[in-house]
Amino acid sequence: MTNARDIKQQLSDDDFNFVCDYVYQKSGIVLSDSKREMVYRRFTRIIRDRHLTSFSDYCELLKSDPEGEERYFINAVTTNLTSFFREEHHFDYLAQHELPHLIKKGSKRIRIWCSASSTGEEPYSIAMTVKESFKTLLNTWDVKILATDIDSNVLNTGKQGIYEYKGIEDMPEHLVKKYFSRGMGVNSTKVKTTSDIQNLITFKELNLMNDWPMKGPFDVIFCRNVLIYFDKKTQLELFERFHKLLAPNGLLILGHSENLGAFQQYFKSVGRTIFRKLD
Ligand SMILES: C[S@@+](CC[C@H](N)C(=O)[O-])C[C@H]1O[C@@H](n2cnc3c(N)ncnc32)[C@H](O)[C@@H]1O
Repeated sequence: MTNARDIKQQLSDDDFNFVCDYVYQKSGIVLSDSKREMVYRRFTRIIRDRHLTSFSDYCELLKSDPEGEERYFINAVTTNLTSFFREEHHFDYLAQHELPHLIKKGSKRIRIWCSASSTGEEPYSIAMTVKESFKTLLNTWDVKILATDIDSNVLNTGKQGIYEYKGIEDMPEHLVKKYFSRGMGVNSTKVKTTSDIQNLITFKELNLMNDWPMKGPFDVIFCRNVLIYFDKKTQLELFERFHKLLAPNGLLILGHSENLGAFQQYFKSVGRTIFRKLD
């Protein structure tokens, strides 16, 4: 096993600092010294893939072609951990409060943005919640879920909608039956999402640090378990932009360890890390 001293020797302070700065500029992700081992591990894979011999070689490549390498490198450093119905209380709130309320309002149009969608389990969980709440009413409503992420690899997984069966084995049987089809032969350990939920979602590459092409307004914005990688300044800038893009009384849903900090005054807390926009 590589220890902290080996890492320090092989990944020099200059190279590590350069990488931290590059990642911050491109993605807003803050890589502090505690992430050194993680950077080292991901770097090792990159160096192997790129047939290079040292970390410095890769830093030189990043310096000489910062734009060309951006997508590949950012894809390699993002952490994409997610799962179906992660933090289930958020989906319960949608099913029990928000969607019935929106249906009753009768606007016939609902927009939901899942802003760090990773491999797609989160937007598909939203789509299943929507389908279950609307039932046949959905035919007469215009409901769309936008799923975005900075990482093009995870978005491709989301678009394909193919997952290991073990990722859904704890899901209620009726949802598995309705929204997944089981693979055959060599694919028997896999499932694929059905077009019923696929058709509700559009997957698009979007870096939260850049301009957002969408006009909104969104009734619900999910931004879960990504803010933890950003500093306070970036978080506040994002909260302001989410606030602008939300419909009156729209919901902003954050991850379990995230909060609005100084921006709390513009929202009302209505559940565990669920915030309603105040106008
Ligand atoms: C830990 S995953 C969280 C996934 C999901 N929201 C959940 O809670 O299960 C964080 C995701 O944020 C994405 N991400 C990181 N920086 C981003 C940025 N600047 N813009 C958009 N997405 C970003 C990563 O690619 C990753 O897929």
